[in-house]
Amino acid sequence: METNNMTDIKVFRYDPEKDEKPRYATYKVPLEGTVLDALRYIYEEHDASLSFRFGCSGPTFERCGACAVKVNGEPALGCKKMLKEQMTVEPHHKFVILKDLAVDFDRENVRTGEWGAPSTEIVVDPEKCTACRDCVLICPVKVLEVKKVDGKGRAVATDPGSCCGQTCAQCATFCPNGAIRLQIRGETR
Ligand code: SF4
Ligand code: SF4
Ligand code: FES
Repeated sequence: METNNMTDIKVFRYDPEKDEKPRYATYKVPLEGTVLDALRYIYEEHDASLSFRFGCSGPTFERCGACAVKVNGEPALGCKKMLKEQMTVEPHHKFVILKDLAVDFDRENVRTGEWGAPSTEIVVDPEKCTACRDCVLICPVKVLEVKKVDGKGRAVATDPGSCCGQTCAQCATFCPNGAIRLQIRGETR
């Protein structure tokens, strides 16, 4: 369905089994909804060979994290990130690429942790954290671990550069003790 309000979106394309190297393809999509909506539009209207993941499509309490990608260089959940003009979508850098935007969440890239300054700071209150690991389990991109700090177990952000905090916030939402604050470019969420 075309509307008058269309925009270009640049999408990373790479099939490791066929392509010598990755490339970027540009598609026209309606300037509305989320990045995931745009990917589904591309799949339905332009190119059904585009691979990407999604699961829950982002209902309020059931974010599966399957749609984690990078939008304009920053980790984000595609089903929450609102589409804007001229965006670039790439696979999440932390995981091995299966094809295009689809990654293997069970296989991490060896270069994890070297991906530039994180856009989200994850602040864990040591007084409130009970080391229950809920946040560790819920984080779609494996940013958190429970470690011993000053003799007491607590959640630690071991890889904040991979955090989709600008759209995700699962850890802060589901921590039973309200121990996590996310700071995204100086703004607390
Ligand atoms: S969910 Fe909250 S209390 Fe549990 S480990 Fe994470 S920060 Fe600590
Ligand atoms: S906001 Fe929390 S749950 Fe979401 S990616 Fe970042 S650390 Fe993981
Ligand atoms: S599709 Fe489940 S979080 Fe985006």
